[in-house]
Amino acid sequence: MSAAPRKRVAVLLSGRGSNMAALLDAAKDPAYPAEIAAVLSNRPDAGGLDTARAAGIEAVAIDHKLFASRAAHEAAVAAELTRIAPDIVCLAGYMRLLSQDFTDRFRGRMINIHPSLLPLFPGLHTHERVLAAGMRVHGCTVHFVTEVMDEGPIIAQAAIAVLPGDTPDALAARLIRAEHRLYAEALRLVASGRARMSGDRAVLSAPETQSGPGDILLASDAGRIVAL
Ligand code: GAR
Repeated sequence: MSAAPRKRVAVLLSGRGSNMAALLDAAKDPAYPAEIAAVLSNRPDAGGLDTARAAGIEAVAIDHKLFASRAAHEAAVAAELTRIAPDIVCLAGYMRLLSQDFTDRFRGRMINIHPSLLPLFPGLHTHERVLAAGMRVHGCTVHFVTEVMDEGPIIAQAAIAVLPGDTPDALAARLIRAEHRLYAEALRLVASGRARMSGDRAVLSAPETQSGPGDILLASDAGRIVAL
């Protein structure tokens, strides 16, 4: 049993929410150091909201189209987060640019998953771009969120092989399995205090159960994650 109370997590998403579902799944283990307190989406039709509700988690839509400006929408999201009072905010496919005010407010407590080995391929259409570049490996990154989109101290990464004949869809389907494993492991590190932000770096301390420093996570195609 974990001695410390579990950290409260709010998840922000815009789409189907499969990464959020992976976090929910991990949190079913009572020893997992985080619990999902609420899910917020800027899209009322996001599948992730239904998944959260079905699991008995509070799910809130704050439709960006109903606000006059980006700033007004973001203020409404911030107000909702103040009410929920999470310890940690997880961005899981949240496709909105965030202001520096917002990222500063959650500095060191907000993490994001991105479908590439950052700093390569920030932004959209990463699988297409990886193939166009002739990459032999692809991967995903969980990082602390700063004011620059898809940048910020890297907590953990997982890599998969690019196979002959891969299409963007095939690559995305293999990578999403690694994303699910990686995000659950990265949130475990942050919630347990083993990963923290120090200046512009993520500092990791070795978990007792791993033989190495535990600062590199490698996912195989089978979705297995090994700490090197
Ligand atoms: C995931 O692939 C995530 O890495 C990506 O959106 C997808 C959401 O899928 N995020 C970004 O591109 C952020 N820059 P999901 O809704 O099934 O979790």
